[in-house]
Amino acid sequence: MTFIVWDDLYETGIASIDEQHKHLVSLLNRMLEALNQKKGGEEISYVIGEMAKYSEYHFSTEEELMLKAEYPDVGEHQIFHHAFTSKVVDYQHKLAARDDNLTAEVTIYLTNWLNDHLSTIDQKYVPYMKKAGIT
Ligand SMILES: [Fe+2]
Repeated sequence: MTFIVWDDLYETGIASIDEQHKHLVSLLNRMLEALNQKKGGEEISYVIGEMAKYSEYHFSTEEELMLKAEYPDVGEHQIFHHAFTSKVVDYQHKLAARDDNLTAEVTIYLTNWLNDHLSTIDQKYVPYMKKAGIT
C-alpha cells in the first residue's frame, strides 16, 4: 500500500484550500497506515469518521470560495463533492464491521478520488479565484 505524497500537482496556490487538502491527504495516509499495520477496526472507523466530517467542512469552504469567485461550474463541482461524501458515509457504515477487503477497497477509492480531484477538478477553479483576488 503506497502512501500519498504531497505533490505540486495538488497545489492550488490558495492557502486555506491547500492547507485543508494537506489535512485530507494526511487522514488518508493514516487510513493506509492503519490498514498496513492491521490495526483494529476502531482506528479505521475513527479515521473514516474524521474523513467524513473534515471533507464536509472542506467542501463547504471550497464551495463558498467558488461562489465568491463566480466560478461558472460550481454546480458540476458540487456533484463531485456529493459523490465523495455519500460514498464515505456509506463506507463508514459498512466499516463498522471489520473487513480487510473492504478497507482496501475504501482506501483505493479514497486515494484515486483525492488524486484525481486535487490534481484535475480543483485546478479548474484556480484562475477564477485568482482573478477574484482569493489567495
Ligand atoms: Fe473540490
